This record gives sequence, structure tokens and C-alpha cells, in this order.
Amino acid sequence: MVQLTLPKGSRPTQGKRWKAPEGAKDVREFKVYRYDPENPGNPRWDVYEVPAGDHGPMVLDALIHIKNEIDPTLTFRRSCREGICGSCAMNIDGRNTLACTKGCDELSGDKATIAPLPHMPVVKDLVPDLTLFYAQYASIMPYLKVETPDPEKERLQSPEDRAKLDGLYECILCACCSTSCPSYWWNQEKYLGPAALLQAYRWLADTRDEATEERLDDLEDPFKLYRCHTIMNCAQVCPKGLNPAKAIAETKKMLAEREL
Ligand code: SF4
Ligand code: SF4
Ligand code: FES
Repeated sequence: MVQLTLPKGSRPTQGKRWKAPEGAKDVREFKVYRYDPENPGNPRWDVYEVPAGDHGPMVLDALIHIKNEIDPTLTFRRSCREGICGSCAMNIDGRNTLACTKGCDELSGDKATIAPLPHMPVVKDLVPDLTLFYAQYASIMPYLKVETPDPEKERLQSPEDRAKLDGLYECILCACCSTSCPSYWWNQEKYLGPAALLQAYRWLADTRDEATEERLDDLEDPFKLYRCHTIMNCAQVCPKGLNPAKAIAETKKMLAEREL
């Protein structure tokens, strides 16, 4: 799988090396992309030498250690620290993933390269600007749309119908898939990308929803949906083991079937 590891238009220079204390053992090098919005022409790679015993087991633990003990200017997003919020998504050794679920022992050696999610504008350091990504998510109407009056208690669903949402509802909107998708890299203004399209199918597959035709009309567009060329990067990187390409294929099938 080929993945660019850098944000849009960036050519970082070599930055500062933060050396480990004299005599430190099991030192790992983290080469980290740095971008200062107040000095926009100058992205750089800083290298932090960190003794493995100084922090917890995950890459996020190492980044938190760097921020707390070595360089407080390093900026990254994180919240839950257990693969639920999606905010620590970044590119680690060339692959999009969650820093909080990526073990340091899974790194390819004692050197790791950490960059923001590829092909997105950068706000600062490892923080990508996800404004467009969230606008695309909002555009697929990610909520139940019904015309029938609300029942007294709840809208029931059979266990079989509920099971149709498995593999869809688990998406945490981390953007690892969309930012690994070449079609999204080149056409992200027009193509919705795998994350938004997986979410779109999540509502198409929901038997309680009554806006199927409206949703399909909205997706029937040469760019929004049909820019997916089944390259499958999305399914390979999803940290939750989901398959956006399959959801996209199911959506195309629904569109084809209604033409018959
Ligand atoms: S399968 Fe489609 S959505 Fe997934 S990476 Fe390929 S082009 Fe992008
Ligand atoms: S489908 Fe997977 S990779 Fe894509 S946004 Fe959802 S959880 Fe993240
Ligand atoms: S911090 Fe929430 S997914 Fe990593």
C-alpha cells in the first residue's frame, strides 16, 4: 500500500534534535512533523530521543511524555486514550492509525516517523484541519429521517434488521480511511470519501429510516460517490476493522437496482 506521509504542499526541513540524557537506555527516536502557523513557510522534522522506560506502552503515551517532559510546544489531538473518540488519528511510519492503540512495540524498529493525516491542511504540528471532512459528514444527513408519526415509546427494530448495522455503526469518524484514499486526495472538494460514504450507507441500511430515495438521489452524482475506484486503502487502514469500500459498493448496488 502506498501512502503519502505528508500534508498538502509541505517540504519540511530538518529541525531540532532533542537528545536523551547521557547514559539513557533503550532510547527510541521519534521523528515528528512540526508546523507553526505563525511561521507558515517552515514545516520541519524534529527528532526526540526518548528512553522507552520513561513512558507507557502506546505511541500516544510517548507523545504525551514528550509534551509533558521534553517540549511543551508539541501539539496533537487526543481525548479517550482507548480508540473510541478518533481524535488521535495520525500517520505513524507511513500508515494512518490511532496513536492510542498503536503499541510502541509494533513500530518497525527504534525509529518512528510521525506526521499528521496526509493530504489535509494542517492547523499545527500533528493537528489536521477537518472542517471539510465534518461538513461532508453533515451533508449525508447522519440522523434518522421519518415521515410517519413518532410511536408512543420507541421505533422498534428486529434483531435481524439491527444486525444490518453491524460493521457500520462502529465508525468513530477518525478520518484514517478518507485521508488514505487516493481518490479523496485528488478530489476531496467533490468526492465525499470513504468515511462519509460509510456513514451514508449506515442510514440507507437502517430499516427505520424513511428517506432512502432522498438519500440515494443525493448520492447519485459522478463525483460524490462514483470517484471510489475500489483501491481498498480505506479498509486496510481502518483501526476499527470496518470496510468502507464494501459500504460504497452496497450503495452503488442500491442505485443500480432502482434503475431496473
Ligand atoms: S475503495 Fe474507494 S474509498 Fe476506499 S480507498 Fe479505494 S477509492 Fe478510496
Ligand atoms: S470507517 Fe474506520 S477509518 Fe474511516 S472514519 Fe470510520 S473508524 Fe475511522
Ligand atoms: S485518544 Fe481517542 S481514539 Fe485515540
